[in-house]
Amino acid sequence: MSIAMKGSIENEVKSRPAYSPGLEGVIAGESALCLVDEGEAGLLYRGYPIRDLAEYGTFEEVAYLLLFGHLPSQQELADFSAQLIHQAVLPHPFEVFLGAVPSDSHPMDMVRTGVSLLGMVDPEAADNSHDANVRKSIRLLAQIPLMIATFYRFVNRKPLVRPQGGLTFGENLLYLLTDRRGSDEAKAMARVLDVSLTLYAEHEFNASTFAARVTASTMTDLHSAVTSAIGTLKGPLHGGANEAVAEMFLRIGSHEQAEAWVREALRQKQRIMGFGHRVLKKGDSRSAIIQRQAESLSRICGDRRWYEIATAVDHVIEQEKGLRPNLDFYTAVAYLLMGIPSTLYTTVFICSRITGWCAHVIEQQDHNRLMRPRALYTGPSRREYVPLDRRT
Ligand SMILES: CC(C)(COP(=O)(O)OP(=O)(O)OC[C@H]1O[C@@H](n2cnc3c(N)ncnc32)[C@H](O)[C@@H]1OP(=O)(O)O)[C@@H](O)C(=O)NCCC(=O)NCCS
Repeated sequence: MSIAMKGSIENEVKSRPAYSPGLEGVIAGESALCLVDEGEAGLLYRGYPIRDLAEYGTFEEVAYLLLFGHLPSQQELADFSAQLIHQAVLPHPFEVFLGAVPSDSHPMDMVRTGVSLLGMVDPEAADNSHDANVRKSIRLLAQIPLMIATFYRFVNRKPLVRPQGGLTFGENLLYLLTDRRGSDEAKAMARVLDVSLTLYAEHEFNASTFAARVTASTMTDLHSAVTSAIGTLKGPLHGGANEAVAEMFLRIGSHEQAEAWVREALRQKQRIMGFGHRVLKKGDSRSAIIQRQAESLSRICGDRRWYEIATAVDHVIEQEKGLRPNLDFYTAVAYLLMGIPSTLYTTVFICSRITGWCAHVIEQQDHNRLMRPRALYTGPSRREYVPLDRRT
């Protein structure tokens, strides 16, 4: 390589921003949706601490806040809730699709393909205007829980049910997935489910949201962006962790077995699901909120088994690795108590995060700039092409 060429490559590398594997610490865009404050405030959605939203608000209020930018008035909330019931309809091609889906498909694969299918038949699929994107977001928020429940009930030969007016989003989701409603225990479960939905709704540029924004930045349609996001959420390093945590608890079986199980897993250099976070290195403030909810629900249900396994695992991981649980860890305890099948946990995450994804897609397309970063080339240097007949 000539000295001049070497110099020009060095100059190009110097003039580029620093490379960060996994984009760690990189600011990849602007957003008014969520502030991750590692201090006292924790996480804020459009300026409101999620601690307050979880304690005093409902998931519908959070969904409205993310999509419309302000907390709803009583009338706005009533209209929004009514729309969520009214729009919970699956178009005809979904029935055909359901009949063709292998019954052992993972529910995440079904939702990924199902949302893509909804994108083909949505009346405003190709309209990327702000208002059409908001309307499509509300439709998806209403349709996705029904899609998940319909699939689950269809393959398990359970009667199909529809969301009921007069129930909150959390109460309806619990009803759709478990048939539970009305009793004091069901109300307590639905409240904890509602809190978990609030906590799951939004988390700035996490992997699936970033995938949605990259897709949206080509000015494709909202359903395509959400389809990208679902495929990204599925991985166990992201949303798939809540299902993996439940499977770990089921394998451990009792709190007496927990310490030995975790020590053996660590000896085998396994990752313990539900611990660690790329951004929240001092701990996940959402975890403390859901842990309190999971403990109180364990008391109400008179079943402390999962909570005791969880605290035993938590203790060993803190001691051995200094890692704190993330939101997925104690959420799995709560969902086990509710009787939601573990293969549906990441789809429950979708029922909530669809609000954050859609709000990001709207924000991206309202102020769009195509996302097209660069790569640091690590391949071979220039080589001469050898015609096929002269290659050995
Ligand atoms: C979320 C996650 C991918 C973030 O990882 P990251 O920022 O890339 O952190 P790293 O992979 O660089 O991990 C740093 C160190 O902590 C360890 N570590 C991180 N999470 C761990 C876990 N869950 N179990 C065991 N060790 C873990 C790594 O092995 C690494 O140790 P080393 O430096 O001795 O090799 C990671 O913590 C993880 O895999 N967690 C489990 C999956 C999960 O719960 N995902 C949901 C996230 S909300």
